[in-house]
Amino acid sequence: MSSLADKRILLGVSGGIAAYKSADLVRRLQDRGANVRVVMTAGAQEFVRPLTFQALSGNPVHTDLLDPAAEAAMGHIELAKWADFILVAPASASVMARLAAGMADDLLSTLCLASEAPLVLAPAMNQAMWRHPATQANARTLQARGATLLGPAAGSQACGDVGPGRMLEPLDIVDQLIATQLPAQVLAGKKVAITAGPTREALDPVRYLSNHSSGKMGFAIASAAARAGAEVTLIAGPVRLDTPAGVHRVDVVSTTEMLAAAEKAADSCDIFISAAAVVDFRPAVVAEQKIKKQDGNDADVLKLVKNPDIVATIAARTHKRPFVVGFAAETENVIAHAQGKLARKQLDMIVANDVSDPEGGFNSDRNQVVVIDHSGQQPLPAGLKTELAAQLIEMIAKQAFTSH
Ligand code: C5P
Repeated sequence: MSSLADKRILLGVSGGIAAYKSADLVRRLQDRGANVRVVMTAGAQEFVRPLTFQALSGNPVHTDLLDPAAEAAMGHIELAKWADFILVAPASASVMARLAAGMADDLLSTLCLASEAPLVLAPAMNQAMWRHPATQANARTLQARGATLLGPAAGSQACGDVGPGRMLEPLDIVDQLIATQLPAQVLAGKKVAITAGPTREALDPVRYLSNHSSGKMGFAIASAAARAGAEVTLIAGPVRLDTPAGVHRVDVVSTTEMLAAAEKAADSCDIFISAAAVVDFRPAVVAEQKIKKQDGNDADVLKLVKNPDIVATIAARTHKRPFVVGFAAETENVIAHAQGKLARKQLDMIVANDVSDPEGGFNSDRNQVVVIDHSGQQPLPAGLKTELAAQLIEMIAKQAFTSH
């Protein structure tokens, strides 16, 4: 279920050319099951007519603070209490300044002041206005008070300038909004260790064996686990990803290093999730100097030995054994192969995905998986790795703490 389902979102539209994109944003929020009410500033109404938002949202649009008819229908304090959160998109420089100053000089600023709901802003303005120290200070003030800023993006602007200040696209706003929703704290007080990304095995000082794993799925799971209240250790192979908020990251390169970090983390964790694409073989000897091309030795250049299976090693523990979850990236007979791995590696749960499907796999932001444990299998609908991660965390928590 989308985390926006049945959420009551008060969408504040302020004056800026990006206001037209907010019409689409209403639709995108509704697609996720949200109930949207729109408040427009006077400036916004110069760009888009309230009727557009009324038709799209299916609710009357709120424009005036002191309109007796509107107050009689749903007063501004009632509206402020109605909202699960307030999203201001576009958030103009002027709105940000008024909110930072705590003004209540129109309906939108009054609602923001009167509401205890979380505030999310999608700034949109000319790049120089965005860069101005006054706007930057206002952004920091709002963030320090708990507001979330989504964007702005950089690029060419309606005024002809190029730079930061474009409102994020509606779909990006929706995705990021979902990511800001705090899920149920199903892992409060629990410790989770996760491996992610590829490992890398040196052949010589300049070459290595590795694979195309981006680490996105493992990082998304680490983020979801932290957001669900866990203390998370993320053991990351070489990837280009930022560390998710609240996550303790341990960077490793080789499989041997990853195993050592996993063993250490497993000593104290409740759940071990192995999302890494571990290189199965490593060179028997790492050459001290760069390997040279020589006639006659082509076939013998690489002598490989098998790497330890990290997840199987953790699962085989008889002492301090966490709940162990593996992944199975398959190209055929996905379920059967995953079930085989579940049994062979003595896992508690395995997440299977078909990497031949262009929708999912290594570098994609999306994935489609089937979760298999000893009691059966459950396919999850295709979705963003971030959303799937949140669902997986819920399922893992349920299994780990009811059956283990
Ligand atoms: O055998 P296969 O590599 O397909 O198994 C996938 C699962 O095993 C993943 O969870 C992966 O992280 C883990 N694995 C591991 N150590 C290895 C190989 C795989 O932990 N050497």
